[in-house]
Amino acid sequence: MSDRKSILITVATGFLGSHLAARFLENGCRVTVLARASNNASPRSRVQHVLREVGVSHFDNLAVYEGDISLPDVGLNECARKQIVSATDEVWHCAASLSFQEQDREEIYRMNVDGTRHVIDLVKQMPSRRIQHVSTAYIAGDRQDVALETEINVGQRFKNAYEESKCQAELLIADEQSKGAIVASVYRPSIVIGDSKSGRATHFHGVYAFIRALWAMLQRFRRRMSPQPGPVKVPLRVLGVETHTLNFVPIDYVVDAMIEISRRPDSAGGTYHLANPSPTENRMWLPNICRLLQAEGIQLVGENSFLKTPMTKRESLFQKRMAFYYQYLQGEPRFDCRRALDALKNTGIECPPVTVELINRIIGWYVDLLNAKAT
Ligand SMILES: NC(=O)c1ccc[n+]([C@@H]2O[C@H](COP(=O)([O-])OP(=O)(O)OC[C@H]3O[C@@H](n4cnc5c(N)ncnc54)[C@H](OP(=O)(O)O)[C@@H]3O)[C@@H](O)[C@H]2O)c1
Repeated sequence: MSDRKSILITVATGFLGSHLAARFLENGCRVTVLARASNNASPRSRVQHVLREVGVSHFDNLAVYEGDISLPDVGLNECARKQIVSATDEVWHCAASLSFQEQDREEIYRMNVDGTRHVIDLVKQMPSRRIQHVSTAYIAGDRQDVALETEINVGQRFKNAYEESKCQAELLIADEQSKGAIVASVYRPSIVIGDSKSGRATHFHGVYAFIRALWAMLQRFRRRMSPQPGPVKVPLRVLGVETHTLNFVPIDYVVDAMIEISRRPDSAGGTYHLANPSPTENRMWLPNICRLLQAEGIQLVGENSFLKTPMTKRESLFQKRMAFYYQYLQGEPRFDCRRALDALKNTGIECPPVTVELINRIIGWYVDLLNAKAT
C-alpha cells in the first residue's frame, strides 16, 4: 500500500529501524533517518549498507542526517533541525541502547531516557506532534500477573537497567501525551527474531547471543575432543524452568503490525503489545536449538541440581557469560495483547505460532550463518 508520508526514523542502522525504513521506502514514503558516523563510515554509507542488507536498492527518497539522540536537539545543527521539523509528518523513535550490563546503567539511561526526552522535544516542534514510540513488552519487569496494554508502572521491579530505562521512557511519553504536547502511539514488541518466511535476521541480540555462546562453546569442545562432524555430547546444565516461557515475535510481524496500527486514527494515544499470544515453553525451543547445533547433553535444571552436584567449570563459565539471559529463563510476565489483536483483526497480519518448522527456519538460518563464517 502506498502512503506518501514524510517519516523521520531515529536511527535505521539497527534491527527494527532498518526494517521499518525499508518498508516505508517500499511504500513510497519520504524517509529521513538520524544516524551516527562510525570510525570509517559516514552516517549515510552506514545506513545504505544496512538497508541494502534488507533489500533496499533505491535511495532517492532517503535523507540521512548525522544525529545522536543522547544530545539536545538530537545532535542536529540549527539548519538541519528546522528542515526536519518543517518537513516531517511523524517520528518513529526506535533508537535505544540494548545493553543489559549493569556497568552500562548510566549510558543506558542517557540513550533510553534522555534520548527519548530529546526526541520528544523535537516532536513538540512539529505541526503534527505525532510520535510512534518503540518500547518493549519487558517493561513489565518481574510481574507475575498479566501485564495489560493500558498499564505502565504498577510497582513492578526490573531485571535490569534496560527494562527500567524503557519504562521510564514510556512514562515520559505518557506524561507529554496526557498534557496534549504530543500525539503518541506506543508499541511493545517482545523478543524479536528473524523473518518468519525466510528465517533471515540482520542483527543478533537476545536469544541469538545465547545461541552464539552455545555454538562457540561447542566449537571449542569439537576442536579439543571430537574433530569429526556430527553431534557432540557436552554435559551442560542450564539453570531454567522447562515449563516457563519466552515470547518470540518475528520481525516481519512486528513491522507489519506497527505500520498497520499506526495508520488507524484511533491508534493515537494507544499502547500495543506486539507479543506472541502463544509464548514458547523453554522445553520446546532449547532442545530444538540443541538439535540444530548438533549438541546433546544440554539440559534445563532447577537450583536443586546444583545443590546435589556443584557446577562444573564449564557450567559456571557459561552461566557467568550468559548471566543476563539466565534471568529470562527463570520466567517472564504474560502479556495481554487484546488491543493489538483487535486492531489487526481482518488485516491478515497475525503473529505465527512458534512451531518446530519456524524454529528450523529461523534458528537454522542463524546456525548456518555461524557455521559458514567459521569455515
Ligand atoms: N530486538 C528486540 O528483540 C527488541 C524487542 C523489544 C523492543 N525492542 C526495541 O526496539 C527498538 C530497536 O531495537 P533494535 O533491536 O533495532 O536494536 P539495535 O539493533 O541495537 O538498534 C539500536 C539502534 O539505536 C541506535 N542508537 C543507540 N544509541 C544511539 C544514540 N545515542 N544516537 C543515535 N542512535 C543511537 C544504534 O545506532 P548505532 O548503529 O550507531 O549503534 C542502533 O541503530 C529499541 O527501542 C528496543 O528497545 C527491541
